[in-house]
Amino acid sequence: MEIKLLHKDMNEKEIIERIKKIKAELGKKLVILAHHYQRKEIVYLGDYGGDSFELSRKATENNDARFIVFCGVNFMAESAEILSQPHQTVQLPDLDAGCWMANMADISIIDEAWEQAVSVIGKDRITPVVYMNADAVIKDFCGNNGGIVCTSSNTPNAFKWSFSRREKIFFFPDKHLGRNTANKMGIPPEEVIIWNPETPFGGNTKEAIKNAKIILWEGYCLVHTRFQIEDILKMRTKFPDAKIIVHPECPQEIVGQADAAGSTSFIVNYVDQAPAGSTIIIGTEINLIERLAHEYPDKQIFPLKHSLCPNMFKINLANLLWTLENVGKVNIIQIPDQIKKGAKKALDRMLTL
Ligand code: 13P
Ligand code: SF4
Repeated sequence: MEIKLLHKDMNEKEIIERIKKIKAELGKKLVILAHHYQRKEIVYLGDYGGDSFELSRKATENNDARFIVFCGVNFMAESAEILSQPHQTVQLPDLDAGCWMANMADISIIDEAWEQAVSVIGKDRITPVVYMNADAVIKDFCGNNGGIVCTSSNTPNAFKWSFSRREKIFFFPDKHLGRNTANKMGIPPEEVIIWNPETPFGGNTKEAIKNAKIILWEGYCLVHTRFQIEDILKMRTKFPDAKIIVHPECPQEIVGQADAAGSTSFIVNYVDQAPAGSTIIIGTEINLIERLAHEYPDKQIFPLKHSLCPNMFKINLANLLWTLENVGKVNIIQIPDQIKKGAKKALDRMLTL
């Protein structure tokens, strides 16, 4: 902790120089993975940037690396640890970098909900599907119950995979991503129900549970539920020729009014492919939008609304440098073997989709 404070007194340029020096010294022994929502300076120091899916793949591809430093949030670093090799350590520069949405799904409550649901439907008729944004122990639960992990870039494929095995899905924890995926796949709204963990049977009648094709856990991201229809209307009036693109963690009303929706890498690629002179309004985390505006000065890029993920923002130059100076020693992500096994099964199913 003291060292971290010391780094706060150094100026940005000095910290960056020291990070670059350590990177050069460690060479291939070190790989820094940075999620698209990280501060711009962190993304530029990363060996790879990407969405959750791409970064989990990178964690499996860099066998030369002894040290993986994950600049993102806890569930991402946990997934990298589960997918990494025994000779590798995964570190997260701030262990308090969690995820609000992941905190909405607790394994003991999920266990109870699952028992209630299968008591109505029957165990062999439903597949648990877990969004990457959840604790390792929930991924383990899914792996052990024939389920799969998905990210925002492959949810429709994970749903198709599940429907090819069993007729129903229980999806945790993002109700909006689940709803938007169901809409995209043409599943009628009456076949999609919400499971509110605070009430018995999720607040549903047994009849409704029997008739449902998809059950959605009552979870959401506070960064993406800040966007409202008024924000879209305001931007459409101000920039009538603009394209509006949003992340699928936004509510269905927002996705329905947008021109496109997709993962953070989808958004990056969309901006990259847009012709010079385009105006693009983006509904997602602000650090990504500001970085894109900086990188594409020939395009006009604006946020639908300013919305910051304070957890992603916890990773900074000071704690990245502190982690690198203590590489392999501090803030190591450790997952008990009994949890790793099922979680890896569920992650591997996603990676082979
Ligand atoms: P992506 O998988 O699209 O990068 O999203 C991760 C996330 O946490 C969005 O809030
Ligand atoms: Fe979690 Fe939302 Fe932050 Fe993504 S943006 S890490 S879902 S709190």
